[in-house]
Amino acid sequence: MAQATDDVLVSRDGGVLALTLARPQKKNALTGAMYEALIAAFHQAETDDEIGAIVLRGSGGVFTAGNDIGDFIAAAQAPQKMAAYRFVEALAQLNKPLVLAIEGAAIGIGTTLLLHCDLAFATPDAQFKMPFVDLGLVPEAGSSLLLPQRIGMVRATELLLLGKGFSAQRALELGLINAIVPVQALENHAGREATALAEKPRQAMLRARRMLHGDRTQLLSQIREEGAAFAAALKSGEAQKAFQKFMNKGGR
Ligand code: COA
Repeated sequence: MAQATDDVLVSRDGGVLALTLARPQKKNALTGAMYEALIAAFHQAETDDEIGAIVLRGSGGVFTAGNDIGDFIAAAQAPQKMAAYRFVEALAQLNKPLVLAIEGAAIGIGTTLLLHCDLAFATPDAQFKMPFVDLGLVPEAGSSLLLPQRIGMVRATELLLLGKGFSAQRALELGLINAIVPVQALENHAGREATALAEKPRQAMLRARRMLHGDRTQLLSQIREEGAAFAAALKSGEAQKAFQKFMNKGGR
């Protein structure tokens, strides 16, 4: 049974559904309940004909610190139950366009969301990182397939295997975001672009988007393969050690 949470705020502005990650005291790290809330919001967007686009943003000067590491520790016992897996599958199968408004840190899934969204805007101080391997884990959200396709194998290796962090400027150069936007303009800018998408002739826009994203069979199969490897990795000594290090503040 899905657990209700106040850590994801959902609001409507015309044809746009705005989702705000609202757990700033934990840098918007995503818990199971937050993934459930996001899945429910995606479902709302998919089934409501009035909604033409979704905006996802953070709060407190951060987009998200990625999956909650405490949840990773707890999930090692029953990883197949993690809501994160269902979220990633929902993300890959989304039919309505997703616009990201990124301020500050965008770690883990905060970065891999870039590979699924339709438009992404980031503040000059945005910082991206996919520290999966450093945490004893493997890439998720289809990033092991999509990132080399998007930016080439040598760059994907730097970001996914070495786990190098990168700036908004680098994300722009790599073609992972559309524009760098001053912090005070971010919310309005993302909202305007989402509204522009929502106001297009709806069926044409959705069909065109579907064509841009192409056949998702291979992506879904890669996501499931990553999920199985991720579940095994969660239980490993390497991962447990890395999680404990973070929780004991040794990771920072
Ligand atoms: N899971 C659980 N808690 C997290 C978290 C996460 N992914 N990221 C941050 N937090 C918590 C911290 O434990 C801390 O909690 P506390 O105040 O109870 O001690 C609080 O959020 C603030 O984090 P802190 O690290 O002190 O803030 P910072 O500004 O120095 O650094 C980050 C921000 C995002 C750079 C840093 O928190 C970080 O690297 N987080 C982990 C990222 C990560 O590896 N995510 C997993 C990706 S797969």
